[in-house]
Amino acid sequence: MIKKVLLALSLALAAVSAHADEGMWLPSLIGSRIKDMRSKGFRLTAEDIYSVNKASMKDAVVLFGGGCTGEFVSAEGLLLTNHHCGYGSIQQLSSVERDYLSDGFWASSREDELPVPGLSVSILVRMEDVTERVAAGEKPADIVAAAEKDGHKADVQQMYYGNQQFLFVYDVFRDVRLVGAPPSSIGKFGGDTDNWVWPRHTGDFSVFRVYAGADNRPAGYSNDNRPYRPKRHFTVSTRGVEEGDFTMIYGFPGSTQEYVTSDAVEYVAEVSDPMKIALRTQRLDIIAAAQAEDAAVRIQYASKHASIANAWKKWQGEVLGLRRLGTVGKKRAYERRFAAWAASRPEYAHLLDSIHAAYEAVRPEYYIAELYSESVGAIEVFSRAQSLADIRSRVAGDAQFADAALGTQPSFLKDYNAGIDRAVASRMIAEFMQRMPAGEVPAEFAAAVSERGGVDAYVGYLFDNTVLTRETFTAAEFDADPVVRMAAMLAPLRTRMAAVRARNLSDIPEVRRWYTPYMRALMEWDTGRAFFPDANLTLRVAYGSVAGYEYADGEYHRPVSTLEGVIEKDNPDIYDYDVPQCLRDMHAAQDYGRWGCDVDGRRTVPVCFIATNHTSGGNSGSPVLNGRGELVGINFDRTWRSTMSDMEFDPAICRNIAVDIRYVLFVIDRIGGASYLLEEMDIR
Ligand code: ARG
Ligand code: GLU
Repeated sequence: MIKKVLLALSLALAAVSAHADEGMWLPSLIGSRIKDMRSKGFRLTAEDIYSVNKASMKDAVVLFGGGCTGEFVSAEGLLLTNHHCGYGSIQQLSSVERDYLSDGFWASSREDELPVPGLSVSILVRMEDVTERVAAGEKPADIVAAAEKDGHKADVQQMYYGNQQFLFVYDVFRDVRLVGAPPSSIGKFGGDTDNWVWPRHTGDFSVFRVYAGADNRPAGYSNDNRPYRPKRHFTVSTRGVEEGDFTMIYGFPGSTQEYVTSDAVEYVAEVSDPMKIALRTQRLDIIAAAQAEDAAVRIQYASKHASIANAWKKWQGEVLGLRRLGTVGKKRAYERRFAAWAASRPEYAHLLDSIHAAYEAVRPEYYIAELYSESVGAIEVFSRAQSLADIRSRVAGDAQFADAALGTQPSFLKDYNAGIDRAVASRMIAEFMQRMPAGEVPAEFAAAVSERGGVDAYVGYLFDNTVLTRETFTAAEFDADPVVRMAAMLAPLRTRMAAVRARNLSDIPEVRRWYTPYMRALMEWDTGRAFFPDANLTLRVAYGSVAGYEYADGEYHRPVSTLEGVIEKDNPDIYDYDVPQCLRDMHAAQDYGRWGCDVDGRRTVPVCFIATNHTSGGNSGSPVLNGRGELVGINFDRTWRSTMSDMEFDPAICRNIAVDIRYVLFVIDRIGGASYLLEEMDIR
């Protein structure tokens, strides 16, 4: 059996006929792609990308926090990532008086770099195919434990739905400090209006530094720590990019579902995304209205608003993209061809039926789970009540519980606005009751709402009486709290939901188990297809080229944007487009120093570019490298019409968006006045 899998895998990896530029490849197996990469302009070797024996590019790439990528650009641990990846940290260090979100931040010396509690950076030490070891009976937990002996952090991840297992070993650094961030008027220029949109003019970067103990190993925060000396950092190229140039992205894409069947795509495009979009539209309207009225609320809810809006917009692009490509229909046709092949193979013949039946069985529950978390789960005080109730059931005495609860109360209240939450609660409970399948709303809860005279009155009662929005309360008050009682009434539903808790419908174990043989069968059958493992927040390489695209009939979008577009969008009355005065002045005087260059015969500064690299959420902050492996940009987005690439990649229109490294350097130097940072980089 295992031999067959390995044979299928090696056949699959040897095939080069992936759609142009589709794919996120495992760095240790990049050898199978090198020929294709070199034909497209890559000049280095597989060993330069990943090596167990010597320093390689992988040593310069990090997992930033829990879901972004970053890259080293100096021998002293200087790290670049996106502004939106550093956003939570920048906000956490900000207040109304020291508003680093609005004003930016630049440490003027190492002493001024600001530690970010809770932020970590993980560097991959090595990865190893352990498929055969696991097949021979070794337990993944034991493999992990052995790998963690010398202070590393390890995990075993499944590729191809468990047909391949990889051990990943990391160093996790927890002393990470903020070095610099542009003002949001640059780092988040265009805001949620331009998010997922091209042409783009966002300077989406921020600068951190990783600190280590005297032995250069991970260490908790200490004054005595020193800048970490990475095995490898990227050289920065100021040569820039042009249409057709090779680009490679090295980073941590989070989740894709390229091999799921038509049923799963249909659920996403026709049921799940539309429901989530509708609910988030209402939440966003409520938050935005409150933000428009109060500057403090604007800061307080900035991060929450951005993250709610981000997925909301992505889903809209995904629905459009899947419908436009006809992914469901195409997959049905593909499945018919597969079924014809599988019919004579007893071990595979039943698979599509089994998968279909599994979806039928779990989909109603999964829908309820998604509805629950996007509606009542979105009420902040309600989810606070739930997590405290969980603690209450684990912790023995009243005093211990109160300690635990009150200890985290300040951080809950710091960014909490009860007025917003009350309005959200009214909308979300109403939507929940209305969208739940008949008879599924717990009777006790439905009765409690109607006893109070309807949703709004019930919500009024909750918010007028809850103690959870106060700084202190006793265990007895907690137990009698109306929101805690609501959580108890919905608890049976929540327990049921736990059975289908999974990142995607297809990851529920009852469904997923069929994908292991299905994936194996696909690889055996579709030998002309270059299979890559779905993204799972492990390190990957994607490659492609800088390219414009036809956005709409007759509307071609060029791949490079410049400062001219920033100034064209400039509007002091629109928060998202309010260009900093110093940038206006520089533009008026064309005073760009060494960063000015000619684009179409015009003196300007390049800002962003797009390319055909296959990326996903998690690739934010990833280094964009040229054929020589030099840093030419930082990835930060896709065009919104690309976002179906998590299920189907379309080389004609899928584009990742990067900030040009020359804009990053320009902003550090001319806006931040932090040219000393450039001195520790290798700029070519
Ligand atoms: N769309 C990008 C991503 O998925 C950027 C998100 C942050 N920017 C924003 N305007 N909300 O992470
Ligand atoms: N901004 C996304 C991130 O945080 C990248 C965009 C995408 O989904 O490709 O990873």
